[in-house]
Amino acid sequence: SGSQPCKLVIFGAGGDLTRRLLLPSLYDLAVADALPTDFQILAVDRPEQTGAEWASRLFGLAEQDAKDPSAEFSCPNLDRSVWDKVTAGAAYLSGDFTQNEIFDRLGEAIGTGNVIFYMAVASRFFSRIASGLGRAGLLREDGYFRRIVVEKPFGHDLASARVLDSELRAQAQESQIYRIDHFLGKEANQGIMIARFSNVLFEPIWRREYIDHVQITASETIGVEKRGAFYERTGALRDMVPNHLFVLLSLIAMEPPSSLAAEAVRQEKTRLLQAVRPILPEDYVSGQYAEGVLNNADVPGYRNEPGVAPDSQTETYAAMRLFIDNWRWGGVPFYLRTGKRLSGRRTEINIVFKKPPYALFNQDMNDPRIGNVIRFLLDPVRGVSIDFDAKQPGLEEVVSPVRSTFLYDDFFRKEPNVGYEALLHDCMAGNQMLFQSAETIEASWAAIDGIVNPDRAPFLYPAGSQGPEEADTLLARDGRRWLSVT
Ligand code: BG6
Repeated sequence: SGSQPCKLVIFGAGGDLTRRLLLPSLYDLAVADALPTDFQILAVDRPEQTGAEWASRLFGLAEQDAKDPSAEFSCPNLDRSVWDKVTAGAAYLSGDFTQNEIFDRLGEAIGTGNVIFYMAVASRFFSRIASGLGRAGLLREDGYFRRIVVEKPFGHDLASARVLDSELRAQAQESQIYRIDHFLGKEANQGIMIARFSNVLFEPIWRREYIDHVQITASETIGVEKRGAFYERTGALRDMVPNHLFVLLSLIAMEPPSSLAAEAVRQEKTRLLQAVRPILPEDYVSGQYAEGVLNNADVPGYRNEPGVAPDSQTETYAAMRLFIDNWRWGGVPFYLRTGKRLSGRRTEINIVFKKPPYALFNQDMNDPRIGNVIRFLLDPVRGVSIDFDAKQPGLEEVVSPVRSTFLYDDFFRKEPNVGYEALLHDCMAGNQMLFQSAETIEASWAAIDGIVNPDRAPFLYPAGSQGPEEADTLLARDGRRWLSVT
Protein backbone atom coordinates (compact mmCIF):
# COMPACT_ATOMS: atom_id res chain seq x y z
CA SER A 1 0.00 0.00 0.00
CA GLY A 2 0.84 3.66 -0.32
CA SER A 3 2.27 6.40 1.80
CA GLN A 4 2.18 7.19 5.50
CA PRO A 5 -1.11 7.10 7.39
CA CYS A 6 -3.34 10.04 6.79
CA LYS A 7 -6.81 11.40 7.27
CA LEU A 8 -8.71 13.10 4.50
CA VAL A 9 -11.06 15.87 5.54
CA ILE A 10 -13.52 16.64 2.74
CA PHE A 11 -15.30 19.98 2.85
CA GLY A 12 -18.33 19.65 0.61
CA ALA A 13 -18.62 15.89 1.20
CA GLY A 14 -22.20 15.83 -0.08
CA GLY A 15 -21.36 17.64 -3.30
CA ASP A 16 -20.99 16.69 -6.90
CA LEU A 17 -17.21 16.74 -7.01
CA THR A 18 -16.95 14.30 -4.13
CA ARG A 19 -19.34 11.95 -5.86
CA ARG A 20 -18.03 12.22 -9.40
CA LEU A 21 -14.28 12.52 -8.94
CA LEU A 22 -13.01 12.20 -5.41
CA LEU A 23 -14.60 8.94 -4.31
CA PRO A 24 -14.14 7.13 -7.64
CA SER A 25 -10.43 8.05 -7.56
CA LEU A 26 -10.06 6.90 -3.97
CA TYR A 27 -11.80 3.73 -5.02
CA ASP A 28 -9.32 3.21 -7.87
CA LEU A 29 -6.46 3.80 -5.43
CA ALA A 30 -7.96 1.17 -3.13
CA VAL A 31 -8.14 -1.27 -6.05
CA ALA A 32 -4.46 -0.59 -6.73
CA ASP A 33 -3.73 -1.03 -3.02
CA ALA A 34 -2.31 2.48 -2.99
CA LEU A 35 -4.30 4.01 -0.16
CA PRO A 36 -2.32 4.93 2.94
CA THR A 37 -2.49 2.61 5.91
CA ASP A 38 -5.07 3.76 8.45
CA PHE A 39 -6.73 5.88 5.82
CA GLN A 40 -9.79 7.63 7.16
CA ILE A 41 -12.25 10.11 5.69
CA LEU A 42 -13.73 12.87 7.73
CA ALA A 43 -16.65 14.23 5.77
CA VAL A 44 -17.83 17.77 6.40
CA ASP A 45 -21.02 19.27 5.07
CA ARG A 46 -24.22 20.94 6.14
CA PRO A 47 -26.88 18.20 6.46
CA GLU A 48 -27.12 16.30 9.75
CA GLN A 49 -26.12 12.65 9.37
CA THR A 50 -23.69 10.05 10.66
CA GLY A 51 -20.53 8.88 8.91
CA ALA A 52 -22.18 5.55 8.12
CA GLU A 53 -25.20 7.29 6.62
CA TRP A 54 -22.99 9.51 4.49
CA ALA A 55 -20.97 6.53 3.26
CA SER A 56 -23.96 4.42 2.40
CA ARG A 57 -25.69 7.29 0.62
CA LEU A 58 -22.61 7.75 -1.55
CA PHE A 59 -22.41 4.04 -2.17
CA GLY A 60 -26.00 4.18 -3.43
CA LEU A 61 -25.06 6.98 -5.80
CA ALA A 62 -21.98 5.08 -6.97
CA GLU A 63 -24.19 2.07 -7.72
CA GLN A 64 -26.45 4.35 -9.71
CA ASP A 65 -23.49 5.86 -11.61
CA ALA A 66 -22.01 2.42 -12.31
CA LYS A 67 -25.22 1.45 -14.10
CA ASP A 68 -25.54 4.72 -15.99
CA PRO A 69 -23.68 4.52 -19.30
CA SER A 70 -23.85 8.29 -19.67
CA ALA A 71 -22.10 8.93 -16.33
CA GLU A 72 -18.70 10.29 -17.27
CA PHE A 73 -16.99 9.05 -14.12
CA SER A 74 -17.85 5.90 -12.28
CA CYS A 75 -16.48 2.73 -10.75
CA PRO A 76 -17.44 0.27 -13.49
CA ASN A 77 -16.94 -2.91 -11.45
CA LEU A 78 -18.11 -1.46 -8.19
CA ASP A 79 -17.23 -3.86 -5.40
CA ARG A 80 -18.67 -3.27 -1.96
CA SER A 81 -15.64 -4.64 -0.12
CA VAL A 82 -13.29 -2.25 -1.93
CA TRP A 83 -15.66 0.63 -1.37
CA ASP A 84 -15.74 -0.19 2.31
CA LYS A 85 -11.96 0.12 2.45
CA VAL A 86 -12.33 3.71 1.32
CA THR A 87 -15.17 4.70 3.59
CA ALA A 88 -14.54 2.33 6.50
CA GLY A 89 -14.69 4.28 9.72
CA ALA A 90 -15.65 7.50 7.96
CA ALA A 91 -16.63 10.18 10.39
CA TYR A 92 -19.03 12.96 9.56
CA LEU A 93 -19.23 16.45 10.90
CA SER A 94 -22.21 18.59 10.19
CA GLY A 95 -21.96 22.33 10.27
CA ASP A 96 -21.48 25.60 8.53
CA PHE A 97 -17.91 26.23 7.49
CA THR A 98 -18.41 29.95 7.49
CA GLN A 99 -18.59 29.68 11.30
CA ASN A 100 -15.55 29.22 13.55
CA GLU A 101 -17.21 26.73 15.80
CA ILE A 102 -16.99 23.87 13.31
CA PHE A 103 -13.21 24.16 13.12
CA ASP A 104 -12.90 23.65 16.87
CA ARG A 105 -14.99 20.49 16.61
CA LEU A 106 -12.92 19.42 13.63
CA GLY A 107 -9.74 19.89 15.66
CA GLU A 108 -11.07 17.59 18.37
CA ALA A 109 -12.10 15.01 15.80
CA ILE A 110 -8.72 14.85 14.05
CA GLY A 111 -6.35 15.23 16.98
CA THR A 112 -2.74 15.01 15.86
CA GLY A 113 -1.33 13.28 12.77
CA ASN A 114 -1.23 13.73 9.02
CA VAL A 115 -4.24 15.40 7.49
CA ILE A 116 -5.22 16.53 4.01
CA PHE A 117 -7.98 19.14 3.94
CA TYR A 118 -9.74 18.93 0.62
CA MET A 119 -11.89 21.88 -0.42
CA ALA A 120 -14.52 20.34 -2.68
CA VAL A 121 -16.59 23.50 -2.36
CA ALA A 122 -17.34 26.65 -4.32
CA SER A 123 -14.30 28.89 -4.64
CA ARG A 124 -15.84 31.64 -2.51
CA PHE A 125 -15.27 29.40 0.53
CA PHE A 126 -11.57 28.70 -0.06
CA SER A 127 -10.08 31.49 1.98
CA ARG A 128 -12.83 31.28 4.61
CA ILE A 129 -12.03 27.61 5.21
CA ALA A 130 -8.29 28.24 5.20
CA SER A 131 -8.61 30.97 7.80
CA GLY A 132 -10.93 28.79 9.89
CA LEU A 133 -8.32 26.04 9.81
CA GLY A 134 -5.54 28.46 10.55
CA ARG A 135 -7.33 30.13 13.44
CA ALA A 136 -8.02 26.73 15.04
CA GLY A 137 -4.34 25.83 14.67
CA LEU A 138 -5.11 22.92 12.37
CA LEU A 139 -2.50 23.85 9.77
CA ARG A 140 0.42 23.73 12.20
CA GLU A 141 2.80 20.91 11.30
CA ASP A 142 4.48 19.22 14.22
CA GLY A 143 6.18 16.03 13.12
CA TYR A 144 3.18 15.36 10.92
CA PHE A 145 1.90 17.08 7.79
CA ARG A 146 -1.09 19.30 7.20
CA ARG A 147 -1.97 20.00 3.55
CA ILE A 148 -4.79 21.81 1.88
CA VAL A 149 -6.08 20.97 -1.56
CA VAL A 150 -7.69 23.83 -3.44
CA GLU A 151 -9.90 23.22 -6.41
CA LYS A 152 -10.45 25.58 -9.31
CA PRO A 153 -11.29 28.26 -10.12
CA PHE A 154 -8.30 29.88 -8.48
CA GLY A 155 -9.41 33.49 -8.69
CA HIS A 156 -11.50 35.27 -11.27
CA ASP A 157 -8.70 37.33 -12.78
CA LEU A 158 -5.14 38.30 -12.00
CA ALA A 159 -6.04 40.64 -9.13
CA SER A 160 -8.39 38.24 -7.36
CA ALA A 161 -5.99 35.31 -7.82
CA ARG A 162 -3.32 37.35 -6.07
CA VAL A 163 -5.69 38.18 -3.21
CA LEU A 164 -6.73 34.54 -2.81
CA ASP A 165 -3.13 33.48 -2.88
CA SER A 166 -2.09 35.89 -0.17
CA GLU A 167 -5.06 34.81 1.96
CA LEU A 168 -4.03 31.18 1.67
CA ARG A 169 -0.39 31.97 2.29
CA ALA A 170 -1.32 33.86 5.41
CA GLN A 171 -2.44 30.50 6.83
CA ALA A 172 -0.13 27.95 5.21
CA GLN A 173 3.27 27.61 3.58
CA GLU A 174 3.48 27.13 -0.18
CA SER A 175 4.65 23.56 0.52
CA GLN A 176 1.31 22.87 2.24
CA ILE A 177 -0.87 24.21 -0.57
CA TYR A 178 -1.91 21.85 -3.37
CA ARG A 179 -3.72 23.64 -6.20
CA ILE A 180 -5.38 21.00 -8.25
CA ASP A 181 -5.90 20.99 -12.00
CA HIS A 182 -7.18 17.67 -13.24
CA PHE A 183 -5.52 18.18 -16.62
CA LEU A 184 -2.22 17.60 -14.83
CA GLY A 185 -3.45 14.24 -13.60
CA LYS A 186 -4.58 12.77 -16.90
CA GLU A 187 -2.39 9.95 -18.17
CA ALA A 188 -2.05 11.18 -21.72
CA ASN A 189 -1.20 14.70 -20.57
CA GLN A 190 1.51 13.38 -18.29
CA GLY A 191 2.75 11.43 -21.30
CA ILE A 192 3.66 14.63 -23.16
CA MET A 193 6.74 15.20 -21.02
CA ILE A 194 7.96 11.65 -21.58
CA ALA A 195 7.36 11.85 -25.32
CA ARG A 196 9.36 15.06 -25.48
CA PHE A 197 12.19 14.36 -23.07
CA SER A 198 12.71 10.63 -23.30
CA ASN A 199 13.13 10.57 -27.07
CA VAL A 200 15.76 12.23 -29.21
CA LEU A 201 13.42 12.02 -32.13
CA PHE A 202 11.31 15.06 -31.31
CA GLU A 203 13.35 17.48 -29.26
CA PRO A 204 15.80 18.72 -31.93
CA ILE A 205 12.96 19.82 -34.20
CA TRP A 206 10.81 21.21 -31.37
CA ARG A 207 11.49 24.82 -32.20
CA ARG A 208 10.85 27.82 -34.34
CA GLU A 209 13.20 26.71 -37.12
CA TYR A 210 10.96 23.71 -37.93
CA ILE A 211 7.57 24.37 -36.45
CA ASP A 212 5.12 26.57 -38.32
CA HIS A 213 2.52 26.79 -35.59
CA VAL A 214 0.79 24.86 -32.82
CA GLN A 215 -2.92 24.24 -32.29
CA ILE A 216 -4.40 23.26 -28.95
CA THR A 217 -8.04 22.19 -28.93
CA ALA A 218 -10.37 21.10 -26.16
CA SER A 219 -13.77 20.68 -27.71
CA GLU A 220 -16.72 19.33 -25.80
CA THR A 221 -20.16 18.17 -26.85
CA ILE A 222 -21.78 18.74 -23.46
CA GLY A 223 -23.52 22.01 -22.71
CA VAL A 224 -23.41 23.77 -19.34
CA GLU A 225 -25.56 21.01 -17.87
CA LYS A 226 -26.83 22.04 -14.43
CA ARG A 227 -23.98 24.44 -13.78
CA GLY A 228 -25.64 27.53 -15.24
CA ALA A 229 -25.26 29.61 -12.10
CA PHE A 230 -21.53 28.85 -11.83
CA TYR A 231 -20.89 29.13 -15.54
CA GLU A 232 -22.66 32.48 -15.96
CA ARG A 233 -20.03 34.06 -13.73
CA THR A 234 -17.18 32.08 -15.24
CA GLY A 235 -17.47 31.51 -18.98
CA ALA A 236 -15.30 29.36 -21.23
CA LEU A 237 -12.19 31.52 -21.02
CA ARG A 238 -11.87 31.44 -17.22
CA ASP A 239 -13.24 27.90 -16.93
CA MET A 240 -10.72 26.32 -19.32
CA VAL A 241 -7.88 28.54 -20.46
CA PRO A 242 -5.65 29.85 -17.65
CA ASN A 243 -5.85 26.40 -16.08
CA HIS A 244 -6.43 23.44 -18.40
CA LEU A 245 -5.28 24.77 -21.78
CA PHE A 246 -2.27 26.49 -20.26
CA VAL A 247 -1.36 23.22 -18.56
CA LEU A 248 -1.22 21.70 -22.04
CA LEU A 249 0.60 24.73 -23.40
CA SER A 250 3.28 24.52 -20.75
CA LEU A 251 3.75 20.77 -21.20
CA ILE A 252 4.11 21.06 -24.96
CA ALA A 253 6.35 24.14 -24.93
CA MET A 254 8.39 24.16 -21.70
CA GLU A 255 12.15 23.65 -21.60
CA PRO A 256 13.41 20.33 -20.22
CA PRO A 257 13.54 20.54 -16.42
CA SER A 258 16.85 19.90 -14.69
CA SER A 259 15.25 17.06 -12.72
CA LEU A 260 11.85 15.71 -11.84
CA ALA A 261 11.88 17.50 -8.51
CA ALA A 262 8.57 19.29 -8.20
CA GLU A 263 10.28 22.67 -7.95
CA ALA A 264 12.37 22.09 -11.07
CA VAL A 265 9.36 21.12 -13.16
CA ARG A 266 7.13 23.85 -11.80
CA GLN A 267 9.79 26.46 -12.45
CA GLU A 268 10.04 25.52 -16.12
CA LYS A 269 6.29 25.71 -16.54
CA THR A 270 6.18 29.07 -14.83
CA ARG A 271 9.04 30.37 -16.95
CA LEU A 272 7.22 29.31 -20.09
CA LEU A 273 3.97 30.96 -19.07
CA GLN A 274 5.79 34.10 -18.03
CA ALA A 275 7.13 34.29 -21.59
CA VAL A 276 3.63 34.32 -23.06
CA ARG A 277 3.09 37.77 -24.51
CA PRO A 278 -0.14 39.21 -23.03
CA ILE A 279 -2.91 38.28 -25.44
CA LEU A 280 -4.43 41.17 -27.39
CA PRO A 281 -8.18 41.68 -27.78
CA GLU A 282 -7.83 41.39 -31.57
CA ASP A 283 -6.30 37.94 -31.10
CA TYR A 284 -9.25 36.69 -29.12
CA VAL A 285 -12.63 35.41 -30.35
CA SER A 286 -15.44 34.37 -28.04
CA GLY A 287 -18.63 32.54 -28.90
CA GLN A 288 -21.84 31.33 -27.36
CA TYR A 289 -23.85 28.34 -28.53
CA ALA A 290 -27.30 28.86 -29.95
CA GLU A 291 -29.77 26.04 -30.44
CA GLY A 292 -28.78 23.37 -32.87
CA VAL A 293 -28.56 19.68 -33.59
CA LEU A 294 -26.07 17.41 -31.91
CA ASN A 295 -25.96 13.63 -32.31
CA ASN A 296 -29.25 13.85 -34.19
CA ALA A 297 -31.02 15.54 -31.29
CA ASP A 298 -32.22 19.12 -30.99
CA VAL A 299 -30.45 20.89 -28.18
CA PRO A 300 -31.32 24.28 -26.68
CA GLY A 301 -29.16 27.36 -26.92
CA TYR A 302 -27.10 28.50 -23.95
CA ARG A 303 -29.54 31.27 -23.09
CA ASN A 304 -32.30 28.70 -22.63
CA GLU A 305 -30.32 26.57 -20.22
CA PRO A 306 -31.37 26.48 -16.56
CA GLY A 307 -29.77 29.20 -14.46
CA VAL A 308 -28.73 31.26 -17.49
CA ALA A 309 -29.94 34.81 -18.19
CA PRO A 310 -32.05 35.09 -21.37
CA ASP A 311 -29.72 37.86 -22.58
CA SER A 312 -26.51 36.32 -21.24
CA GLN A 313 -23.23 37.59 -22.68
CA THR A 314 -21.23 34.74 -21.18
CA GLU A 315 -18.99 32.92 -23.66
CA THR A 316 -19.14 29.16 -24.09
CA TYR A 317 -16.36 29.19 -26.66
CA ALA A 318 -12.99 30.87 -26.68
CA ALA A 319 -10.28 30.92 -29.33
CA MET A 320 -7.06 32.88 -29.30
CA ARG A 321 -3.67 33.37 -30.84
CA LEU A 322 -0.67 33.81 -28.62
CA PHE A 323 3.10 34.10 -28.87
CA ILE A 324 5.84 32.92 -26.57
CA ASP A 325 8.70 35.35 -26.44
CA ASN A 326 11.71 33.11 -25.96
CA TRP A 327 14.47 31.70 -28.18
CA ARG A 328 12.71 28.42 -28.86
CA TRP A 329 9.35 29.84 -29.85
CA GLY A 330 9.84 33.45 -30.96
CA GLY A 331 7.42 34.22 -33.81
CA VAL A 332 5.61 30.85 -33.73
CA PRO A 333 1.87 31.36 -33.30
CA PHE A 334 -0.01 29.13 -30.87
CA TYR A 335 -3.73 28.89 -31.56
CA LEU A 336 -5.90 27.71 -28.70
CA ARG A 337 -9.61 26.97 -28.71
CA THR A 338 -12.17 25.42 -26.43
CA GLY A 339 -15.92 25.29 -26.40
CA LYS A 340 -19.06 23.53 -25.36
CA ARG A 341 -21.70 21.99 -27.63
CA LEU A 342 -19.25 21.55 -30.47
CA SER A 343 -19.54 18.78 -33.02
CA GLY A 344 -17.17 16.38 -31.29
CA ARG A 345 -15.43 15.67 -28.02
CA ARG A 346 -11.69 15.95 -28.53
CA THR A 347 -8.71 17.24 -26.61
CA GLU A 348 -5.62 17.37 -28.76
CA ILE A 349 -2.49 19.27 -29.65
CA ASN A 350 -1.30 19.60 -33.21
CA ILE A 351 2.28 20.53 -33.94
CA VAL A 352 2.26 21.71 -37.53
CA PHE A 353 5.67 21.72 -39.19
CA LYS A 354 6.94 23.98 -41.91
CA LYS A 355 6.76 22.95 -45.53
CA PRO A 356 9.76 21.52 -47.34
CA PRO A 357 11.87 24.30 -48.82
CA TYR A 358 10.94 23.62 -52.44
CA ALA A 359 8.70 21.33 -54.49
CA LEU A 360 10.93 18.53 -55.70
CA PHE A 361 7.94 16.32 -56.43
CA ASN A 362 5.87 18.89 -58.23
CA GLN A 363 3.50 19.29 -55.31
CA ASP A 364 1.30 22.32 -55.13
CA MET A 365 3.03 24.00 -52.22
CA ASN A 366 -0.15 25.92 -51.44
CA ASP A 367 -1.96 22.71 -50.67
CA PRO A 368 -2.83 23.11 -47.00
CA ARG A 369 -2.28 19.38 -46.48
CA ILE A 370 1.44 19.81 -47.01
CA GLY A 371 3.51 19.85 -43.85
CA ASN A 372 4.13 17.21 -41.23
CA VAL A 373 1.87 17.19 -38.20
CA ILE A 374 2.56 15.56 -34.88
CA ARG A 375 -0.70 15.18 -33.07
CA PHE A 376 -1.04 14.46 -29.38
CA LEU A 377 -4.41 12.81 -28.90
CA LEU A 378 -5.33 13.40 -25.30
CA ASP A 379 -9.00 12.72 -24.75
CA PRO A 380 -11.04 10.57 -25.26
CA VAL A 381 -8.75 8.90 -27.81
CA ARG A 382 -5.25 8.80 -26.38
CA GLY A 383 -2.10 8.46 -28.41
CA VAL A 384 0.23 10.20 -30.80
CA SER A 385 -0.07 10.34 -34.56
CA ILE A 386 2.31 11.63 -37.19
CA ASP A 387 1.31 12.83 -40.63
CA PHE A 388 3.98 12.58 -43.28
CA ASP A 389 4.30 12.06 -47.01
CA ALA A 390 4.73 8.73 -48.77
CA LYS A 391 5.03 7.70 -52.36
CA GLN A 392 1.76 6.71 -53.85
CA PRO A 393 2.40 3.30 -55.44
CA GLY A 394 2.53 3.54 -59.22
CA LEU A 395 4.77 4.54 -62.08
CA GLU A 396 4.88 8.24 -61.30
CA GLU A 397 6.45 10.08 -58.35
CA VAL A 398 3.22 11.05 -56.71
CA VAL A 399 3.29 12.26 -53.13
CA SER A 400 0.50 11.22 -50.83
CA PRO A 401 -0.03 12.21 -47.19
CA VAL A 402 -0.23 9.26 -44.77
CA ARG A 403 -0.65 8.89 -41.03
CA SER A 404 1.02 6.67 -38.49
CA THR A 405 -0.75 6.36 -35.14
CA PHE A 406 0.18 5.02 -31.73
CA LEU A 407 -2.77 4.43 -29.41
CA TYR A 408 -2.36 3.82 -25.69
CA ASP A 409 -5.11 1.24 -25.75
CA ASP A 410 -3.21 -0.89 -28.27
CA PHE A 411 -0.08 -0.98 -26.17
CA PHE A 412 -1.16 -0.84 -22.58
CA ARG A 413 -3.74 -2.44 -20.41
CA LYS A 414 -6.61 -0.09 -19.80
CA GLU A 415 -6.67 1.16 -16.23
CA PRO A 416 -9.73 2.76 -14.76
CA ASN A 417 -8.75 6.35 -14.30
CA VAL A 418 -10.79 9.43 -13.57
CA GLY A 419 -7.73 11.66 -13.58
CA TYR A 420 -7.52 12.34 -9.86
CA GLU A 421 -5.79 9.15 -8.76
CA ALA A 422 -2.26 10.34 -9.42
CA LEU A 423 -3.06 13.72 -7.90
CA LEU A 424 -4.43 12.31 -4.65
CA HIS A 425 -1.63 9.81 -4.46
CA ASP A 426 1.01 12.49 -4.93
CA CYS A 427 -0.63 14.78 -2.42
CA MET A 428 -0.53 12.00 0.17
CA ALA A 429 3.11 11.40 -0.69
CA GLY A 430 3.98 15.10 -0.53
CA ASN A 431 4.96 15.50 -4.19
CA GLN A 432 3.80 18.81 -5.67
CA MET A 433 5.01 18.19 -9.22
CA LEU A 434 1.49 17.67 -10.53
CA PHE A 435 0.09 20.70 -8.73
CA GLN A 436 0.05 24.31 -9.78
CA SER A 437 2.38 26.73 -8.07
CA ALA A 438 1.23 30.22 -7.15
CA GLU A 439 3.65 31.63 -9.73
CA THR A 440 2.29 29.45 -12.53
CA ILE A 441 -1.24 30.54 -11.78
CA GLU A 442 -0.27 34.16 -11.61
CA ALA A 443 1.58 33.98 -14.93
CA SER A 444 -1.47 32.34 -16.51
CA TRP A 445 -3.86 35.03 -15.39
CA ALA A 446 -1.39 37.73 -16.44
CA ALA A 447 -1.33 36.35 -20.00
CA ILE A 448 -5.10 36.67 -20.39
CA ASP A 449 -5.58 39.79 -18.31
CA GLY A 450 -6.18 41.90 -21.42
CA ILE A 451 -9.02 39.71 -22.67
CA VAL A 452 -10.93 38.58 -19.57
CA ASN A 453 -13.26 41.55 -19.75
CA PRO A 454 -13.90 41.93 -23.48
CA ASP A 455 -15.93 44.84 -24.77
CA ARG A 456 -17.38 42.69 -27.55
CA ALA A 457 -20.31 40.29 -27.20
CA PRO A 458 -19.64 36.63 -28.03
CA PHE A 459 -20.50 35.48 -31.57
CA LEU A 460 -23.31 32.95 -31.72
CA TYR A 461 -22.65 29.50 -33.16
CA PRO A 462 -25.14 26.70 -33.62
CA ALA A 463 -24.80 23.79 -31.21
CA GLY A 464 -23.19 20.88 -33.04
CA SER A 465 -20.99 23.12 -35.21
CA GLN A 466 -17.24 23.79 -35.09
CA GLY A 467 -17.71 27.11 -33.30
CA PRO A 468 -18.14 30.64 -34.65
CA GLU A 469 -16.79 31.42 -38.12
CA GLU A 470 -14.90 34.37 -36.67
CA ALA A 471 -12.55 31.83 -35.05
CA ASP A 472 -11.61 30.64 -38.54
CA THR A 473 -10.68 34.20 -39.47
CA LEU A 474 -8.19 34.24 -36.62
CA LEU A 475 -6.13 31.69 -38.57
CA ALA A 476 -7.17 32.63 -42.09
CA ARG A 477 -5.64 36.10 -41.71
CA ASP A 478 -2.32 34.29 -41.10
CA GLY A 479 -2.92 32.00 -44.10
CA ARG A 480 -3.71 29.02 -41.85
CA ARG A 481 -6.71 26.94 -40.88
CA TRP A 482 -7.84 24.83 -37.96
CA LEU A 483 -7.22 21.15 -38.37
CA SER A 484 -10.49 19.32 -38.09
CA VAL A 485 -10.99 17.46 -34.84
CA THR A 486 -13.96 15.26 -35.51
C1 BG6 B 1 -13.79 21.48 -15.87
C2 BG6 B 1 -14.69 22.57 -16.37
O1 BG6 B 1 -12.75 22.01 -15.10
O2 BG6 B 1 -13.25 20.79 -16.98
C3 BG6 B 1 -15.79 21.98 -17.20
O3 BG6 B 1 -15.23 23.28 -15.28
C4 BG6 B 1 -15.23 21.14 -18.31
O4 BG6 B 1 -16.62 23.01 -17.73
C5 BG6 B 1 -14.20 20.15 -17.79
O5 BG6 B 1 -16.30 20.45 -18.92
C6 BG6 B 1 -13.48 19.48 -18.92
O6 BG6 B 1 -12.69 18.45 -18.43
P1 BG6 B 1 -12.63 17.07 -19.15
O7 BG6 B 1 -11.74 16.23 -18.33
O8 BG6 B 1 -14.05 16.56 -19.22
O9 BG6 B 1 -12.09 17.36 -20.52
